Amino acid sequence: MSLVAEDVRVRYGGRRPLADVLLRRPSPGSFAVDGVRLSLAKGSVVALVGESGSGKSTLARCMARVQDLTGGRVSVDGVDVATLRGRDLKAFRRRVQMIFQDPYESLSPRQRVRDIVAEGLAVHGVPRAEREERVRAALTAVGLTPVESFLDRRPFELSGGQRQRVAIAGGLVLDPDYLIADEPVSMLDVSVRASVLKLLDDLRESRELGVLLITHDLATAVHVADHVAVMHGGRIVEQGPASQVTREPAHPYTRALLAATPALDRG
Ligand SMILES: Nc1ncnc2c1ncn2[C@@H]1O[C@H](COP(=O)(O)OP(=O)(O)OP(=O)(O)O)[C@@H](O)[C@H]1O
Ligand SMILES: [Mg+2]
Repeated sequence: MSLVAEDVRVRYGGRRPLADVLLRRPSPGSFAVDGVRLSLAKGSVVALVGESGSGKSTLARCMARVQDLTGGRVSVDGVDVATLRGRDLKAFRRRVQMIFQDPYESLSPRQRVRDIVAEGLAVHGVPRAEREERVRAALTAVGLTPVESFLDRRPFELSGGQRQRVAIAGGLVLDPDYLIADEPVSMLDVSVRASVLKLLDDLRESRELGVLLITHDLATAVHVADHVAVMHGGRIVEQGPASQVTREPAHPYTRALLAATPALDRG
């Protein structure tokens, strides 16, 4: 079972300039995502690394079907997600959860933590009686304990790292098959970062969660990922087993990334 991007292309800003079309000129750099193939299997962690603006978030949003593609397709277990409607789409929304890059933007400021985390449960018809318990379990899982002291807070009453963990709890509460996490640990300090990554790794094992972990930090990536994909200018310039990509980087950009990551233990 897997979630797969095939030749995905995304162009922002509508049409190409008329002159480019008439002269059949390719518009260089006009695709934010330019023909990407990436596969995320259940029970695996795939790290998507790359510099700012390389197209990571755009690709992630396509894979979660929250953004339209200009070309290519995204499929889940072989079914094109663009064709999903009604009940099937709803099932997809439960199975594939996305944690957005900026938790402050994605969390509704007036809602309390308990309601933010429970939101998906109501939408997906989980009985009211079960919701509180599941919310508590999710908050415990992301380390927001004691749970009582967090349940009634609003986003502005949390630190950046706590907000990030609330967002992760909201993504986990429905027990998804795939979690697309866009920079989920970027605002966390090193100790908390390690515990959140450990959590994702545990879920991968215990629930066969498939995790797409987006980060610009290669050291974070190789820590938990089985597979690393390196994105540059809208393309995946290199991908493979984490150990291979870090030990024998084939692409100059990957080498540059590695050189910029001195803390990385390459042994
Ligand atoms: N809504 C949008 N409208 C127009 N251009 C956009 C939009 N979103 C992103 N872009 C552009 O698409 C390219 C890829 O952006 P994207 O957000 O996918 O990069 P990223 O790899 O996630 O970067 P970061 O590490 O900074 O989050 C960038 O050039 C960006 O400016
Ligand atoms: Mg991004």
